[in-house]
Amino acid sequence: MSKILVTGGTGYIGSHTVVELHNAGYTPVIIDNLSNSNIQILDQIEKIIGIRPEFHQFDLCNEAKVKAFVQENPAISGIIHFAASKAVGESVEKPLKYYHNNFFSLINLLNAYQGKNINFVFSSSCTVYGEPDSLPVTESAPVKKAASPYGNTKQIAEEILEETAGAYNNYNFIALRYFNPVGAHASALIGELPIGVPQNLLPFITQTAIGKREKLTVFGGDYDTPDGSCIRDYIHVVDLAKAHVAAIRLLEKGNPNGGYDVFNVGTGNGYSVLEAIAAFEKASGQKLNYVVGPRREGDIIQVWGDVTKSSEQLGWRAELGIDEMMASAWAWEKYLKENPIG
Ligand code: UD1
Repeated sequence: MSKILVTGGTGYIGSHTVVELHNAGYTPVIIDNLSNSNIQILDQIEKIIGIRPEFHQFDLCNEAKVKAFVQENPAISGIIHFAASKAVGESVEKPLKYYHNNFFSLINLLNAYQGKNINFVFSSSCTVYGEPDSLPVTESAPVKKAASPYGNTKQIAEEILEETAGAYNNYNFIALRYFNPVGAHASALIGELPIGVPQNLLPFITQTAIGKREKLTVFGGDYDTPDGSCIRDYIHVVDLAKAHVAAIRLLEKGNPNGGYDVFNVGTGNGYSVLEAIAAFEKASGQKLNYVVGPRREGDIIQVWGDVTKSSEQLGWRAELGIDEMMASAWAWEKYLKENPIG
């Protein structure tokens, strides 16, 4: 069976993708430096799929280690590259850390595969669209100036892939532009593990409901949206993981669109923050303590994706709705209370 390298495979999206690769008959091989994840996630993956995936702990910024790994693992036919720093606020405070980690790792991987036929799926983000001019946003919408160094690393990385595909013919790239990944595996054995105070909405909601946080602040209630709060396209992490398997399959068949292609990965539906809270309360049976507070600087007002291209060309479509997203996120938070990780 094809071996697929999953960098960042013990992280939130990476771990779910390892499980879905296994379910689809692939052999996932993980590289992770555990900078933002926990080794116990390997045990959790093993509980779900029944085998322990091959795991290598090192930093992809170490060029010599990347080269040695590639030489010693010639059977790898595809890469799903998640490993990257991803905290928007931290990237504003430490831009060099973000440019160093996110680019050196990518370039080391690409260099190590020069001349070798390789399928490569890159973790990009809808953040490249900024505040879109029209909704739902399609892949051909203009890329707007990035609001943070983190966002800029995603934009520049996409350009690096496109230019690399144009210059050499051994790389086959797909960039997946994720909307807002939420939820957890149906087993509640893996899910999002934020370090410190969560910046993203869903972990903040579930931590508030379980009593780790006193209350959630809704960032802004006076936007020009139907209920005044911001709108996002939340996507279940298991659906998102399956989109990576679909991308690997398309690359194996030979993507008709050539050596570099990009797809939106969302549900195509937008939910406001207040609607997300209501959906959580319904799915969990918990009343959430929240207040509507001031806007968060840099927030996009509303974004949701056009997923026509993904459904027609990638052969993938989200199957799980907001109720499953909320119920699984809540089940994971309750699991963590009984079985702390880290
Ligand atoms: C954020 C990043 C984005 C990144 C994505 C990764 C910013 C400005 N954007 O997107 O670049 O790709 O995470 O997952 O940080 N909210 C609250 N209260 C909270 C937390 C969030 O009301 O305590 C609201 C936000 O204002 C937003 C929505 O919930 O409207 C979703 O927020 P979040 O989960 O942080 O995601 P994004 O802002 O979409």
